[in-house]
Amino acid sequence: MYTPAITGTGVFTPENTITNDELVACFNTYAQKFNVDHADQIASGDVDEMPMSNAEFIFNASGIEQRYVLDKTGILNPDIMHPSLRQRSDDEPGVMAEMALDACAKALADAGKTAADVDAVIVAASNHERAYPAIAVEIQDLMGIKGFGFDMNVACSSATFGIQAAADMVRSGSIRSALVVNPEICSAHLEWRDRDCHFIFGDVCTATLIERKEDATGDHFEIISTRCATQFSNNIRNNDGFLRRTRPDGMKDRRDMQFMQNGRKVFKEVVPMVSAHILQHMADEGIENTQLSRMWLHQANKSMNDYIGRKVMGRVPEPAEQPNILQDYANTSSAGSIIAFSKNSDDMKPDDIGLICSFGAGYSVGSVLLKRC
Ligand code: COA
Repeated sequence: MYTPAITGTGVFTPENTITNDELVACFNTYAQKFNVDHADQIASGDVDEMPMSNAEFIFNASGIEQRYVLDKTGILNPDIMHPSLRQRSDDEPGVMAEMALDACAKALADAGKTAADVDAVIVAASNHERAYPAIAVEIQDLMGIKGFGFDMNVACSSATFGIQAAADMVRSGSIRSALVVNPEICSAHLEWRDRDCHFIFGDVCTATLIERKEDATGDHFEIISTRCATQFSNNIRNNDGFLRRTRPDGMKDRRDMQFMQNGRKVFKEVVPMVSAHILQHMADEGIENTQLSRMWLHQANKSMNDYIGRKVMGRVPEPAEQPNILQDYANTSSAGSIIAFSKNSDDMKPDDIGLICSFGAGYSVGSVLLKRC
C-alpha cells in the first residue's frame, strides 16, 4: 500500500464576468417583455406575471457578487438567455477538453511534473458535453498521457468522489498518479430565465494531481483519508438526457431540461447532513476540531458554509480558516471547493490539517482529510 498525496492544483478561469447588476438588468428586460407579450393571459389568470429580480436579494441570499462565464453575449441577450458557443468540428478539441488543458498544465507545473508522470485522467463533472467518447480520453490524447481515462458524474460532489477514486488507485498500487479534472460549464445547464436560480452558477475548470507521496518533489498534502456518501433526493434535479427525443414533448423548451432545485429544502436538509458527515469522518480519524486548521467547502451559498463551519469548528471560524471564493466565482459545482483549496493553501505549515468537502445533488457529500507536508 502507498500513501496518496495531492501534489499540484490548477484553475482555468474564463475571461468574461457577469456582475449581479448586469444579470438583473438583463433578466428584468426579459421579464418586462414577457409580461407585455403575455398581458392578456396574465389579465385572465392563465399565466403568472413574471416578477423582477434584484441584485440586493441575490447578494444577501447567496453571498455571490459576480460569476465567470465562457460566453456572456448570449446570456445577456434578453432574446437568447443562454450561452452561445461556436460549433466545433469533431477534429478540434471540445470545449471541456480545452478548459481542462489549461487547468491540467497549471496543476502539473505546480507539482513540478509533466504529462509523462501521469498514469490516468478522471474527468469528474456535473455535465459532459457529449455521450462518448469520454472527455477524459480526449484530454489524455491531447496531453500525450499513457494509461487510461474515464468520465464520472456525482454533480457538485464530483471532485471529491474523483479524488477518492484516484487516491484509492494510488493507494493500492494500480497507478502511480492521476489527474482529476473538473470542467464545469454550469452556464449551459442553468435556467437564466428563472429569477429563483439565475444568479447561482458560473463556469470554471479545476485540476488536481494525485501521486504517491514518495513521488512528490515539493510541498504537498498527504491524503489522510477520504469519505463519500449519497442519499437520494429530487430536490436538485435536471431531466435532460439521451431519452429526450423519445418522449412526446421531449424536444420542447421544457423547464425541467435545465437545473431545478427546491433551494430552501436543499439548504435545510444538506447542511445538517454535511456537518454530521464531516464530524463523523474526523472522529473516525481521531481528529479533534481544535486540530483542524482549514476547511475548503463547496461554494454554493455563504450562509450554508457559515453554518457548517460553526458546527464543525464549534465556534465561528476566522475567514482565513474557511475561505470562500463564491463571491467572485458563484457556484461552480464540483470545482468550487478545489478553487478554494488551490487559492488558499500555500501558506499552511507542515503537519497542519485541512479538509476539502463538496456536497450537492444526489444528495451527495464527499470529504478529503489532508495533512500539509
Ligand atoms: N430577486 C428577488 N427576489 C427573489 C429572487 C430574485 N432573484 N429569487 C427569489 N426571490 C424571492 C422568492 O420568490 C421568494 O419570494 P416569496 O417569499 O414572496 O415567495 C423570496 O425571494 C425568498 O426566496 P427563497 O427561494 O426562499 O430564498 P432563499 O433565502 O431560500 O435563497 C437560495 C435562495 C437558492 C440562495 C437558497 O435557497 C440556497 O442557497 N439554497 C441552497 C442550495 C443551493 O444553492 N444549491 C445549489 C446546488 S448545490
